[in-house]
Amino acid sequence: MNPLETTYLGLKLPTPIVAASSGLTGQPDKIRIMEEQGAGAVVLKSLFEEQIMYEAGKLAASHDYPEAGDYIRYYTKNNSIDQYLGLIEKVKKEVKIPVIASVNCVSAGEWTAFARRMEEAGADAIEVNMYFLPLDPDVRCHTWEETYFSLAEKIREHISVPVAFKLGQGFTNLVYLLDQLYKRKVNGVVLFNRFYEPDIDPEKMHFTAASVFSTPSDISHSLRWVGIVTSMVEKMDVAASTGIHDGMAVVKQLLAGAQVAQVCSVLYQKGPRHLGVMKRQVEQWMKDHSYRSLDEFRGKMNYKNLPDPAVYERSQFMKYFSGHH
Ligand SMILES: Cc1cc2nc3c(=O)[nH]c(=O)nc-3n(C[C@H](O)[C@H](O)[C@H](O)COP(=O)(O)O)c2cc1C
Repeated sequence: MNPLETTYLGLKLPTPIVAASSGLTGQPDKIRIMEEQGAGAVVLKSLFEEQIMYEAGKLAASHDYPEAGDYIRYYTKNNSIDQYLGLIEKVKKEVKIPVIASVNCVSAGEWTAFARRMEEAGADAIEVNMYFLPLDPDVRCHTWEETYFSLAEKIREHISVPVAFKLGQGFTNLVYLLDQLYKRKVNGVVLFNRFYEPDIDPEKMHFTAASVFSTPSDISHSLRWVGIVTSMVEKMDVAASTGIHDGMAVVKQLLAGAQVAQVCSVLYQKGPRHLGVMKRQVEQWMKDHSYRSLDEFRGKMNYKNLPDPAVYERSQFMKYFSGHH
């Protein structure tokens, strides 16, 4: 038996290392290399809600889309819906690993009906990445969370393949959110997305982009929450994401309880063949510790299984300050 075999969203994967959504996963030749090197599944580059609505002729009438206008028209020229459905069909023909389609959205709007076409094109699952900045002083937090719940309900009306929600880092009670999503038949969550963040150049007095790529130390936030939520919402599959750059980072996330680890920045920095290096590092670690399957050690270090689970809760620097004078 293949010791790295796993399931994710009810799908069978040869390894727990998943190529995360990005420009790289919009290129079938790169996806073929990723499969050869040991990717367990691929999340295709995202289609944008604004793009779907623009092509459906609905965008002009809506005020919900902050990025509407020339940018979308430009983007849509090079990335039409038909091209996206064609990408799903092509990749499905060329690789055996599960192919997960991806949508970036800002609402639980009409675009959800379109998800059925992704399913019909052969997508094995759909990953939904909803993100908006709540900025209204008169709207309570719960109202924003309700948007996620209505999205879960709406998308389930249209598709039968598994669904994963890719989430940002800013939720007050993530455990509640995940439990509610699970009750609405969301099969998995990706913790966490990493967004395009701004920076300021104080000399030139203008905005610039912060580093697009993560570093290995960015893993900590995800590691904490994977360890906590996998012991509290046990049936929800969790894909760890952000800061996973080598095989040891994959092992850490599996020990925390993740079902799979999603990888992006390091594939830009070292190329898709780095997946092979990561896979061999996981295999070697399992051999060194005499594990024959992922289930033998998955979650061994999660919140529920630690004698002192408080290590996951501790966030103040008390210990650090007491030891450093
Ligand atoms: C250049 C680039 C493009 C990305 N494009 C997408 C995208 O289209 N959709 C999406 O859901 N995430 C996108 N992401 C986020 C990644 O899928 C991933 O969640 C994030 O980068 C954190 O993982 P990492 O630390 O391994 O990079 C992108 C990331 C990068 C660096």
